[in-house]
Amino acid sequence: MSDSIRVAIAGHGLMARVHAHAWRTMPYFFQVGRPVEVAVLLGTDPERTQRAADSLHIRQTETDVQRLIARGDIDILDICAPGDAHARLTIPALEARVHVLCEKPVGTSLEDSRRMADAASKATAHGVVAMAGYNLRHVPAIQEARALIRDGALGSVISIRGQYLQDWLTDPATPMSWRLRKERAGYGALGDIGSHIIDLAQYLVGEDIVETIGYTRTEWAQRPTDSSDGGHEAVTVDDSAAWLGRFSQGSVGTFEASRVSHGHHNQVRIEIDGTRGALAFDFERMNELLVAQGGREPGTFRKLDVTGTGHPYGDVWWPAGLGLAYDHTFVHLVAAFIDCVETGTRVSPSFRDAHQVQSVLASIESSTRTGRWVSTAS
Ligand SMILES: NC(=O)c1ccc[n+]([C@@H]2O[C@H](COP(=O)([O-])OP(=O)(O)OC[C@H]3O[C@@H](n4cnc5c(N)ncnc54)[C@H](O)[C@@H]3O)[C@@H](O)[C@H]2O)c1
Repeated sequence: MSDSIRVAIAGHGLMARVHAHAWRTMPYFFQVGRPVEVAVLLGTDPERTQRAADSLHIRQTETDVQRLIARGDIDILDICAPGDAHARLTIPALEARVHVLCEKPVGTSLEDSRRMADAASKATAHGVVAMAGYNLRHVPAIQEARALIRDGALGSVISIRGQYLQDWLTDPATPMSWRLRKERAGYGALGDIGSHIIDLAQYLVGEDIVETIGYTRTEWAQRPTDSSDGGHEAVTVDDSAAWLGRFSQGSVGTFEASRVSHGHHNQVRIEIDGTRGALAFDFERMNELLVAQGGREPGTFRKLDVTGTGHPYGDVWWPAGLGLAYDHTFVHLVAAFIDCVETGTRVSPSFRDAHQVQSVLASIESSTRTGRWVSTAS
């Protein structure tokens, strides 16, 4: 065992910056047995990778995953690359007994996520951890909501409403990127952000979605290319999606995901109605949870402040009322990951959980074609 936990980050875009920040912040707030070092940046192009490594203060670079693994000095591969790279980076790393944290939605297809989940199961037998990057599970209000549901505060769940809306594709002049190409991303808004609300809903309710009926739409079928050739390229994924999902115990979910929704930079909402009460969460007010309790004279929603002692992560951070933000959710994610590595606690979210989300995505895509309810059994 080396003196430090050595992390390699794959990719050097938005998530690599967010994760590098999380790895470095986490040991200030959470107990870790050994120092954590973000040691290597894995990219594809040597010069771009080196420039990114300099800016992220990462000392070493690699451009080949096999070479990275063969070094033998990396404990964790943290995959912050597009979906089409997930399986091909994850599987050899797990086979070499390197722990893997992989960003959502974990691959581009059901086939990818199945292979990744199988590789994770085999690796578990050797104490190797594989976790998916569904960071929203680690929002304190979401953990509080889950505990309330588990404790029966809502009674039986009747219905779930989930919405994830963004506006970054509202301008038809926004150019192509990997997120708009099916072969690289798998899905559009459905997989990119819809996957988050599927995972959240299943996590909160504690049940799988077993069948769906849905509809996806691409508003702008062509966009300017991401090169300077002045041309256009076909968009091969959805801009927005809406679907119903039936949960295993019969409750129903109503969901919407869109990247063409004016006025919504990044709105995630989830509401759960039960026989005895209801919960509502809005990421724009992530330090609060709204709770309504039934009874003879049902009240409207009351605001629960989830900061400070007595609330999830409340003893780790700042005094009550100061609040947490987007970046903290990733600190919680990597802290949970390290806890699994060091103590063998149950992984959440696991690659099996991510595979279940992929099976819901595939059923919605299939339902869009057939116009019928489609089972998520895979
Ligand atoms: N959890 C979240 O809230 C959240 C938010 C945004 C993105 N994501 C996920 O994170 C991943 C990355 O998204 P992003 O926003 O950082 O994208 P990005 O476009 O900003 O960055 C992707 C990076 O990956 C690099 N890359 C491409 N192929 C690679 C390969 N084979 N090996 C190594 N690097 C490679 C690219 O050069 C680029 O630096 C995606 O899976 C995305 O869905 C998650």
